[in-house]
Amino acid sequence: MQTNPNRTAWEVSEDDYPRLGTPADKLRFMLRYAVLAPSNRNSQPWLFKVRGRTVELYADRTRSLRVTDPADRQLLMSCGCALFHLRVAMWHFGHLDSTVLLPAPEDPDLLARVTLGEEDSPTSQQEALFAAIPKRRTNRQHFLDDPLPEGLKPELVKAAAREQAWLLFVDGRQQRNAIADLIAEAERLQWADKHFRLELASWLHSNHDTAPDGIPNSAQNTGDLLSVAGPNVVRSFDLGEGQAAKDRDIAAYSPGLVVLGTDKDEPCAWVQAGQALARVLLRARVDGVSASYLDHPIEVAAMRPKVTELIGHGGHAHIILRLGFGPNLNPTPRRTAAEVLIRPES
Ligand SMILES: Cc1cc2nc3c(=O)[nH]c(=O)nc-3n(C[C@H](O)[C@H](O)[C@H](O)COP(=O)(O)O)c2cc1C
Repeated sequence: MQTNPNRTAWEVSEDDYPRLGTPADKLRFMLRYAVLAPSNRNSQPWLFKVRGRTVELYADRTRSLRVTDPADRQLLMSCGCALFHLRVAMWHFGHLDSTVLLPAPEDPDLLARVTLGEEDSPTSQQEALFAAIPKRRTNRQHFLDDPLPEGLKPELVKAAAREQAWLLFVDGRQQRNAIADLIAEAERLQWADKHFRLELASWLHSNHDTAPDGIPNSAQNTGDLLSVAGPNVVRSFDLGEGQAAKDRDIAAYSPGLVVLGTDKDEPCAWVQAGQALARVLLRARVDGVSASYLDHPIEVAAMRPKVTELIGHGGHAHIILRLGFGPNLNPTPRRTAAEVLIRPES
């Protein structure tokens, strides 16, 4: 049981599902699982509107990261993660989903319209994804050297493909080293930029902070300069050299390193990439595998094409993840579903 009030969103229990309620009651309950999704810097840039049997997902651009994500690409991916969680909840509670992405071209903030479909029994794979939702964490701690479970790699590749994205394992030593070097180079560049440091610091919080968003110290790697330094130091000093060296090693030697991307680079593809990311993370968690992000060369616009060039894949890279077995972690803060619900106009 969590005591910090900004973690209550994680205390959701399926026993509270309103089986006899209206479709809108059911959808509002399912949103409790959507808000547990990962988001860039834990910015939770999503809003929802429930009308009858339909949920609309809106981008909350007041939560944009202007320096690292000027086009709102990762913001839309984060919303895509929440959308995938919502769909998994629909399947678990016995409904098909009917989902239309960007249904209103005149309103680019309306990212998806999801309708509660016919009743249908969930598959065992859907049930496993649902059970993984409250257990998934971004894990920045040390990973064991143990290899990924037999058979997981093709499952993760399939998971991304099911959401119209691609996932590529960077396995060759030379390729790994080249990507690891790129990560380190990008990280040094980012840290040298005071605007990057200011933005990052604004999302880092102490463990006792009651903010319902952002990243608490406990979610950082404890051996990591960032968590020791705290937001004030992050704001003022370039810690790039140490961070870059650490992340270079992590990228080079983690049990798994993957790049997730899409063929196109436009808002619809970004929402799809987010859904694919969430499906990959949940599928990995089913096997007890955790992930953390090494996106620096994707966030530095000039370096982004080098990622696909180095892995020899067409299209556009969105996320670099390392995968492996890490320690158990506490969840990070969340706004509750009620806090991200917009009342429909009557
Ligand atoms: C699109 C996207 C990009 C992210 N990029 C990074 C990143 O560059 N570095 C990082 O440490 N975490 C990154 N994260 C992870 C978030 O910081 C994390 O999801 C958030 O803090 C909530 O924590 P949780 O995943 O443990 O619930 C990213 C997440 C998403 C969805």
